[in-house]
Amino acid sequence: MAHIVYQNEAVVEETDLTLSLLDVSHKNGIPHMNACGGHARCSTCRVLVLEHLDNVCPRNEAERQLAERRGFTDDIRLACQSRVDGDVIIRRLVVDTYDRDCVNCETPMAVGRESCVAVLFVDIRGFTPFTERTLPYDVVHILNRFFHTVGDAVLDNGGVIDKYIGDAVMALFGLNGSDARTTCLQAIKAALQMRASLVEFNSYLGRVFNEQFAIGIGIHFGTAVVGEIGHPASRQVTAIGSTVNVASRIEAESKNLGTDLLVSEFVLANVGDCVETGRSCTTTLRGTSGETRLVEILGLSGDSAGDGDASVHAK
Ligand code: FES
Repeated sequence: MAHIVYQNEAVVEETDLTLSLLDVSHKNGIPHMNACGGHARCSTCRVLVLEHLDNVCPRNEAERQLAERRGFTDDIRLACQSRVDGDVIIRRLVVDTYDRDCVNCETPMAVGRESCVAVLFVDIRGFTPFTERTLPYDVVHILNRFFHTVGDAVLDNGGVIDKYIGDAVMALFGLNGSDARTTCLQAIKAALQMRASLVEFNSYLGRVFNEQFAIGIGIHFGTAVVGEIGHPASRQVTAIGSTVNVASRIEAESKNLGTDLLVSEFVLANVGDCVETGRSCTTTLRGTSGETRLVEILGLSGDSAGDGDASVHAK
């Protein structure tokens, strides 16, 4: 048996010494944060071992790597990876009123999960000069109409509108767990629908405001942490990680290549037989290491264009 003292919180007598400190916390109703679910992928469960560090098992490889990356001293341990074989005094390090709020509203999405997603960014070219020559209420009206148009394309193809960033929209595909090919194809079909619907949108814009919009779209496929982000009273599901940043940069790069739809080689690897491609370039995207090959998408190949619609409405 071990006495585990949670400083300022509780004293626990634990007989099952195979349990991790995180398991001990949960067994005893201590609201111990564990954003990654106990997989040594975050550091929210960390504790400071105040006394008897020698009664705590040595770090395993997963914890060692994370501790090295975060620069943790020896006495800061991941509760999810640590077991004790004697008495210890610890203090949870992620614990205050904000953390308690987070724990109390925890849902699977609130703590986040790693998912393979296709991330699509679309924005309006030359939007800032447009706003300078247009009345503010007209800008709002036109933006909402634009968001409606591109949003329909996202929703029609099984995607989720993640957020609006000025005149840009970020959308996610694959949150329902569909395979990589379906996910990437959904994103490309959404992009092609945006391209097609822009014709009608521009017809309206020309008629009513004597304006025309061009858009740029970038798509990347990879791993991201998807979770509910924000104040507990107002959260929204979003994706975070380099996959998102890369998708945004691909969209920006589409302008340099003079195309309206550019995807990464990772997207193309999943749907290469379904699409017709155009120009390509290999570039180092800002904030990434190594080069990424980017490919222009012209449209769907013959077969995919014919049967595609049936596979994309995975809402
Ligand atoms: S719960 Fe994420 S590292 Fe322990």
